[in-house]
Order: sequence, then structure tokens, then C-alpha cells
Amino acid sequence: MLNPKEINVRPFDKSAVPQLAPLSESERHFIENISTPIDLEIGCGVGWHPITYAQNNPDRRLIAIEHTAEKFKKFERRFEKHQLLNLLPIHANAISWVTTHLNEECLDRIFLLYPNPNPKDRAKRWICMPFMKQLLSCLKKNGQLIFASNEIFYIEEVMEYALHFWKLELVKNERVELARTHFEKKYLQRGETCTEIILKKNY
Ligand SMILES: C[S@@+](CC[C@H](N)C(=O)[O-])C[C@H]1O[C@@H](n2cnc3c(N)ncnc32)[C@H](O)[C@@H]1O
Repeated sequence: MLNPKEINVRPFDKSAVPQLAPLSESERHFIENISTPIDLEIGCGVGWHPITYAQNNPDRRLIAIEHTAEKFKKFERRFEKHQLLNLLPIHANAISWVTTHLNEECLDRIFLLYPNPNPKDRAKRWICMPFMKQLLSCLKKNGQLIFASNEIFYIEEVMEYALHFWKLELVKNERVELARTHFEKKYLQRGETCTEIILKKNY
């Protein structure tokens, strides 16, 4: 258990983040179309969750980012088969992409599902990164951060940082029973406990 006073995150230095080329016309249209809520998934792997989420939520849009080339190619092939107009697959480093392309208060939900827990390096875990400030600034008031992990230490750390440092409110903390991602499936098959927490930004 961390002492809330020990929780500290360096300020985010936007100027150190590589800027990306401008969005294509179709990407810009996807993002700027304000008719339906827009969500973001970071580190979506080969795309199981983004595709089913887009199918099950035709009234929402999802931007799904993956930076590993091989995984993104598989995701893209699946995406091409499904032709979902409410899903935008992005091959990029999410830190650069979000910092370059997203405005403040434009997102309704952010998904971080089974990110690498980097057990030896807290600085590499999303919730402890300076970038988290930039990411949360993109959430609308009452927007949600949805985080899942099979690592209890990571869930506890996210709760502590989220509640005490980022000032988010806990909406839900529950055990996952059915797999939605490849990592979730692997962990559930091994009999591990997978937990999802939903946090709300009420500022
Ligand atoms: C442990 S895998 C989980 C994949 C998927 N969410 C699942 O549950 O099956 C974490 C994924 O995050 C991706 N990732 C890590 N850092 C990223 C970044 N900065 N931008 C985009 N993707 C990233 C990795 O390439 C990897 O595919």
C-alpha cells in the first residue's frame, strides 16, 4: 500500500514528444464528427476488443491504437473483413498520437486493457506516467477510464494513483468472467483472476 503523500508524477513535457504528420482527411472526419460519443483504446493488440466493441456499440465511435507492427497488421486484416464505420484503427505510439491529434475534453471513454505491468519499472506503467495528465485532459467531464489487469499489485496501484493523485472517482471494481481480449482469454484459461476497474473524471 502506498502512502498517498509518496505518490508523485513528473510534469508532462509536451515539447519532448515527437510530433506526427497531420491526420488524413478521413481520420479527421472520423474524429471531428460530433454526432456520437467517441472512445479510445490504447494498446489494443490484434483487435479482438475493438472489433466486438464497435459491433456491439453502433451508436459510439472507437479509435483503437496499437504500435507493434505485427499485431497491428493482424488487427488491420480483421478490420478490413468487418468494414466497421465506427472503428478507426491507428498504427502509432499512443503517446505521440494522442498528444499530436487529440484536443482537450474530446473523449467519452478510454480503455487500457491488460497493459504490460512492467513490474520492475513503475515509470513505464501508464498510471504513473507524466503522459497520464495529457491523456486525462482529453477525457470529457464525467468521462471514464476503464482499466483491466490480471496483476493485483497493478490494480491496487491504479486505484491509489487514480483516486489520490489524478482525483478520479471509482465507479466499479469487478472480477471479469468472460474474455474480450487475447490476454484476458489467456489469463482466464490459466485460472488467474482478471479485474476491471472503471474510474470517472468528474472535473
Ligand atoms: C500486453 S498487450 C495487451 C493487448 C490487448 N489489450 C489484450 O488485452 O490482448 C499490450 C499492448 O500494448 C501495446 N502498446 C504498448 N505501449 C504502447 C503505446 N505507447 N502505444 C500503442 N500501443 C502500445 C503493445 O504493443 C501491446 O500490444
